[in-house]
Amino acid sequence: MFRIHIIGAGRVGKTLAKLFNINQIAAIGGIVNTSLENALEAVRFIGKGTAYETVETLPGADIYFITTYDDAIQTTCEQLAKNTALKNAIVVHCSGLLSSEVLSSVKPLGCVTASIHPIKSFARPAESVNSFAGTYCAIEGDQQAVTALTPLFEAIGGKIFQVKKENKSLYHAACVMANNYLVTLHHQALQCFQTSAIEGTIAKELVSTLMMNSLTNLKKLNHHEALTGPLQRGDTQTIKLHLDSLAHLPLIRESYLQLGLATLPLTRHTEEKLAELQETLTSLRRSGS
Ligand SMILES: NC(=O)c1ccc[n+]([C@@H]2O[C@H](COP(=O)([O-])OP(=O)(O)OC[C@H]3O[C@@H](n4cnc5c(N)ncnc54)[C@H](OP(=O)(O)O)[C@@H]3O)[C@@H](O)[C@H]2O)c1
Repeated sequence: MFRIHIIGAGRVGKTLAKLFNINQIAAIGGIVNTSLENALEAVRFIGKGTAYETVETLPGADIYFITTYDDAIQTTCEQLAKNTALKNAIVVHCSGLLSSEVLSSVKPLGCVTASIHPIKSFARPAESVNSFAGTYCAIEGDQQAVTALTPLFEAIGGKIFQVKKENKSLYHAACVMANNYLVTLHHQALQCFQTSAIEGTIAKELVSTLMMNSLTNLKKLNHHEALTGPLQRGDTQTIKLHLDSLAHLPLIRESYLQLGLATLPLTRHTEEKLAELQETLTSLRRSGS
């Protein structure tokens, strides 16, 4: 069984450590946070492990998780590289954006490195522990690290797939668009409903249902088949009226226009009709009315 240290036992670190512990996948060793008090609290949550004051005082282990927030990963790793007990270990972080390159400071110590990004919102560790199974996790790094980490994450229900280190930023942008910006779109559609005097609870239900319908369709159909609505029908008059009604909601109007332009290539129109629709949207954007 691997011995694992967690440096940065926050939402992700605590969740993973508890999952490894309750499933008896690995032995939880040291826990380091910004303060000993916080590390002790994390130990209580995980139900195993020993709180340490600093990374320099950690004893040796097989795997070191650096699950601090992104901006602290590289400097924390450089600090860890000063630990004389660190040798031939696996050092890993869970950032979606950063690659394993930020862990290069431990390489001269015979360590191998990886990043493994669970695609999940870890809002509350106690809930995340129960809902982790089925989570897709993108991995990249040294083969030895990938080979060791893959079964570890599979044992707690993770679905592992490979991502190229040079593509991590673009990969992460996709995660943000699919997850965070769906929330933005939900909010903007809700504002339109509410401004048109639809009662709040009904409005929220409507937006969610419409979004779920599209997502369900997209499971079976491609984007061209799943797309419906005025742009698909080529109803320019409808689009003009929508934009008129959005005049007093300028941010949403701009989103509507931008998304409209991005939607055009998904329609099934002829080149000629596409050019006409593009011109209409672009001139409406220029005119602001
Ligand atoms: N949250 C998510 O939904 C999610 C999803 C996938 C991946 N991730 C990735 O997972 C990583 C951790 O994110 P998170 O949301 O778990 O962050 P978080 O809840 O803010 O936890 C970060 C932890 O790091 C500790 N920390 C900060 N600087 C430290 C240092 N220099 N030495 C030791 N500990 C330090 C903090 O300690 P204190 O408790 O003492 O402040 C805190 O417990 C990030 O790389 C993030 O991108 C997050």
